[in-house]
Amino acid sequence: MKLKDKKVLVIGGGSGIGFGIAKGAAEEGAKVTIASRNADKIAQKAKSIGGTAAVLDVSAEANVENFFKEHSGFDHIAFTAGDMSSLARGVLGDLDLKLAASRFNTRFWGAVAVAKHGATRLPPGGSFTFTNGMLAHRPVKGMPIVSASAMAAEGLALGLAVDLAPVRVNCVCPGLIETELLAGYGDEMLKTMSQRQLIQRPGTPEEAAEAYLTCMRNTFMTGQVLRIEGGIAIAN
Ligand SMILES: NC(=O)c1ccc[n+]([C@@H]2O[C@H](COP(=O)([O-])OP(=O)(O)OC[C@H]3O[C@@H](n4cnc5c(N)ncnc54)[C@H](OP(=O)(O)O)[C@@H]3O)[C@@H](O)[C@H]2O)c1
Repeated sequence: MKLKDKKVLVIGGGSGIGFGIAKGAAEEGAKVTIASRNADKIAQKAKSIGGTAAVLDVSAEANVENFFKEHSGFDHIAFTAGDMSSLARGVLGDLDLKLAASRFNTRFWGAVAVAKHGATRLPPGGSFTFTNGMLAHRPVKGMPIVSASAMAAEGLALGLAVDLAPVRVNCVCPGLIETELLAGYGDEMLKTMSQRQLIQRPGTPEEAAEAYLTCMRNTFMTGQVLRIEGGIAIAN
């Protein structure tokens, strides 16, 4: 129970992988705060695990700065904020570069803002863990910007681990995880997609969350990228 009485902030914790992290940390006795944009959703989810909720939209730095003025004392921060907007999917010749650039707003620049205003205040041995995705390593046609933004997150993890030490910084790289994010895909599509993996099913939010909890618990772990992806990286 290494997380007992630790203060854990999960940004993006109102659903999916983030809620898996929040629930897992609460079960270990951590004091959990869930943050994201939708006040009603996070209030309900936080209540269900005995945690607290705080509204935050990480797409503007000022929001993040104000948030960490009002909320402090965290030991660990996990960052899973992201949505399906600005996937910038399609034929390269038709790519809207402004839309493509906006792909980086929440996942990348949001994580940078949280590092700047939040992770710099963590205690030695505390941890900041954020998220990329397996499209960094197994690109699919029509999504080079998604692959690039995911790979950028890995570089950020290494750079921040050096900058923020002895605070620890790691990145989790999920493969196909069945969450609210993929709700529109349908069972058949998820089944088809998972056939490419060694473990031929989507992962659960709890399985992905375990990687983030490991990053929090393991006090010798920093600058790492943990792939939780059913073996897609090495599958033929
Ligand atoms: N599921 C997968 O297969 C998969 C695979 C690879 C990578 N990922 C990545 O893993 C992360 C988590 O995914 P998930 O599947 O758990 O998705 P999810 O269930 O949709 O959770 C994402 C959360 O991010 C929050 N959010 C979105 N924009 C935000 C913003 N600007 N500021 C603060 N919070 C924001 C959303 O809540 P609000 O609407 O309340 O803000 C939502 O609860 C995402 O970055 C996703 O791209 C997922």
